[in-house]
Amino acid sequence: MLFGKKKAAPERGEPPAHIAIIMDGNGRWAKKRGLPRTAGHAAGAETFRRIATYCKDIGVQYLTVYAFSTENWKRPKEEVEAIMGLLDKYLREAIDQMERDRVKMKFFGDTSVLSPELRALIARTDEISTHFEGCQVNICVNYGGRDELMRAARLWSERGFEGGEQGLSDCLYSAGIPDPDLLIRPGGEQRLSNFLLWQAAYAELYFTDTLWPDFTNAELDAAIAEYNRRSRRFGGI
Ligand code: IPE
Ligand code: IPE
Ligand code: MG
Repeated sequence: MLFGKKKAAPERGEPPAHIAIIMDGNGRWAKKRGLPRTAGHAAGAETFRRIATYCKDIGVQYLTVYAFSTENWKRPKEEVEAIMGLLDKYLREAIDQMERDRVKMKFFGDTSVLSPELRALIARTDEISTHFEGCQVNICVNYGGRDELMRAARLWSERGFEGGEQGLSDCLYSAGIPDPDLLIRPGGEQRLSNFLLWQAAYAELYFTDTLWPDFTNAELDAAIAEYNRRSRRFGGI
């Protein structure tokens, strides 16, 4: 190279096929700044947008994010409404950009209880997504691992409990999608909070104190580098 040093290869190595993220710490991020919690959710939505683009750019095939749990309805009405408002805003903007970004979007969770406007936006993103191949982002909204398993059990019974473990997997929201390889939880808590209970059976877990709005692309690289240092044995030796 005549015009300067060649850019160093990233230390992170190959990214895993499927990364899952519990996007936690928005409220504390806002509180630290003397802002309302909803400002933290707005900042968190921007982080999500940036990380999703980065995942696509580095070749991650699936990104599954936890945006709103079945338990999050316990929060004050104003906060729930603000989160749903941000989802609405995000989807409207995403629909405009999907053709350009060519990122597929899918929703995990019981979306039937969401507002008609949100359901229409979700239907629209589903429809656009059918035209693309490649990186897929799964957004978990009104999602709970136990709720998903209850729903799957009902569906599986209708199917006569066929197919063993794979048969049950095929009844989950994640049917047809490989299990997450790496599960990241920012925000300092070290628990699953009802996220991907079945699918995370052999996920490598990565916890960090960084609050989600502060989560950088470099930190994702660090998590992937750590993942690549782990020895995955799946019960073998
Ligand atoms: C995660 O951030 C977003 C949602 C659960 C909707 P939090 O709102 O849980 O932020 P903290 O954990 O209170 O800081
Ligand atoms: C998990 O975060 C849910 C999402 C990030 C959407 P919570 O903040 O709801 O989890 P807990 O209450 O700390 O377990
Ligand atoms: Mg939290």
